Amino acid sequence: MKALVVYESMFGNTAAIAKAIVSGLRETMNVDLHEVQDAPTAPSDDIDLIVAGGPTHAFSMSRTATRTDAMAKGAIHGKVDFGLREWLDGIPAGHHAASLATFDTRVTKVRHLPGSAARSAAKVGHKHGFTTGSSPESFYVEDIDGPLHEGELERATAWGRELGALVAAS
Ligand SMILES: Cc1cc2nc3c(=O)[nH]c(=O)nc-3n(C[C@H](O)[C@H](O)[C@H](O)COP(=O)(O)O)c2cc1C
Repeated sequence: MKALVVYESMFGNTAAIAKAIVSGLRETMNVDLHEVQDAPTAPSDDIDLIVAGGPTHAFSMSRTATRTDAMAKGAIHGKVDFGLREWLDGIPAGHHAASLATFDTRVTKVRHLPGSAARSAAKVGHKHGFTTGSSPESFYVEDIDGPLHEGELERATAWGRELGALVAAS
């Protein structure tokens, strides 16, 4: 069983979550991890599961304007002109052998507000022909630049473990 994990991260929090998800997945799957700008745009047919995530910006996936804003606020990772939205848009539409699971990071104190990058990414994934075996998942940060809310790395590893079990059972 093979998984591809793709993440966007500007302040490093989503990167840490992605790595924690990978450690859960690796209990049952072979996993490749890529930052979004280095991820394959045509994932190979032997991949069973794609896990894709990024930071929630303005209630959705980031855009050039919000990534520019993040840079102005001190972000040191990522690229202004390319993120999760652009990567997903670049995947050809049609049937995909892999199922898609999406995640994001969001700020704890506005968790009651609607809108998450994970939900937006899942919608785009459906349009591109992916099936999703799991609900979009959010992980929480205390502020724009972090840190992660306590326990989120452990929750991410557990989520990765669950995804691996779902794939094995399907
Ligand atoms: C321009 C901008 C817009 C944001 N909008 C939201 C938002 O709508 N909802 C939210 O919960 N967090 C929002 N945030 C906080 C991000 O979700 C947070 O910076 C991100 O989770 C950190 O992940 P990273 O370290 O991987 O970049 C925003 C951050 C920036 C820079």
